[in-house]
Amino acid sequence: MEKKKKSSFSNSLGFVLAAAGSAVGVGNIWRFPYLVAQDGGGLFLIVYLILVMTFGFTLLTTDVAIGRRTHEHALRAFGAMDKHWGFLGWITFLVPAMIMTYYTVIGGWVTKYFVTYLTGSGSQAAQDGYFNSFITAPVAPVVFMLIFLAATAFIVYRGVEKGIEKFSRIVMPGLFLLIIGIAVFSLTLRVSDGENVRTGLQGLAVYLIPNMEGVTPSRFLGILLDAMSQIFFSLSVSMGIMITYGSYVKKDVDLGKSLGRIEFFDTFVAFLAGMMIIPAVYVFSGTEGMSAGPGLMFVSLPKVFDAMGPVGTIVGLAFFLMVIFATLTSCVSIMETLVANCMEVFRWDRKKMCLVITVLAAVGAVVICMGYNVFYFEVTLPTGKAGQQLLDVVDYISNSFLMPAISLLTCIFVGWVMKPKWIIEEMEASGHTFTRKGLYTVMIRYVTPVMMLILFLQSAGVFNLVKSWFGK
Ligand code: PFF
Repeated sequence: MEKKKKSSFSNSLGFVLAAAGSAVGVGNIWRFPYLVAQDGGGLFLIVYLILVMTFGFTLLTTDVAIGRRTHEHALRAFGAMDKHWGFLGWITFLVPAMIMTYYTVIGGWVTKYFVTYLTGSGSQAAQDGYFNSFITAPVAPVVFMLIFLAATAFIVYRGVEKGIEKFSRIVMPGLFLLIIGIAVFSLTLRVSDGENVRTGLQGLAVYLIPNMEGVTPSRFLGILLDAMSQIFFSLSVSMGIMITYGSYVKKDVDLGKSLGRIEFFDTFVAFLAGMMIIPAVYVFSGTEGMSAGPGLMFVSLPKVFDAMGPVGTIVGLAFFLMVIFATLTSCVSIMETLVANCMEVFRWDRKKMCLVITVLAAVGAVVICMGYNVFYFEVTLPTGKAGQQLLDVVDYISNSFLMPAISLLTCIFVGWVMKPKWIIEEMEASGHTFTRKGLYTVMIRYVTPVMMLILFLQSAGVFNLVKSWFGK
């Protein structure tokens, strides 16, 4: 009979840094800034902040408390709470399984850019068509993806304390220093083209001042939903990851305090990323440079670094090093979730399970890479987004479609079947106080499920459908 050995983080700091490592990723550095630029600057910031402290807090608390109380990973946790709800574990498991395939591909892109700057070829990356010709190539994206995946697998293979926690303890402070350094540098930028002068501080104003132009009620709902789905992705909630990390937290850790720190860290890094990117892009290309999607990080920013002259190579190198740190710690959390769940189900050891998951992830990621050449297509998603490829489709299914559905079901289950008290008891374990318990109760039972339903309907394209009926 195999003995169940439970891994754990050594203390609360170890947990906070590992969980923040999962939360801080390309979502913060790449997606958050363009959402701010597209959704009214400071207006989006205010909405986001309020939603993090209410919805984000509720979903994060739920996941981590479920993990710690059941001492199980998502696949088993829901079933352990109530045997009729075991199915929710399986749906939840699907999300990291899908995200793993494309997150490694993006990790490969980031690695490629880092190497480009390291070898002093940053100005090539600023050329038109560089990104496109790289991702559509048959071999290079696969090679860089494999390098990134190997690094991820190595950390996961080393285990929770010696791999994930140790790595996060080194890398997270480094990431923080790099992002502060680049953000401050961004504010000092200044470009003049004869009559016009654009400065980093003007860019900061674009970032911070709420822009209410064209904000109708329906546009405001759009902004709200953008912020909401960003919060899921950014906090890594509703995908089993925080359940797994929660199961590694010792009973004497004050969960309320630790979760507050994770929320703060994740939001602050996203805020700093905006402060680093928006003024820089504004100074060199105006707000038009703030394209959504891969364009921002892999096309606009290299142009900005190039325009900075020789110092741009160093800034670009620091930037992509920071993005590698962020992406790696996030990918580690996804892979750990897959490995830990499967270890429980198949009763294999970590080494064997890591190997199997690595091979499967590599196969999935190769297919995603092929989405830019062999399997190239362009589709319009139910949300109305046109010209999307395989990576976007998998991202849509996992983040826009499954995650709100999982959150909705989790809220119904925890709020109405198990009751909020079940979570509150865990938050107050070892005599700690749970200061936001009133807020938690209202959020989990009433507000969050309604919002999740709206988000789900919007993502499934129901609103667009209704609009088109009325339009006709
Ligand atoms: N939270 C990470 C980010 O903001 O980039 C992304 C992420 C990590 C998504 C882990 C999903 C995940 F399972």
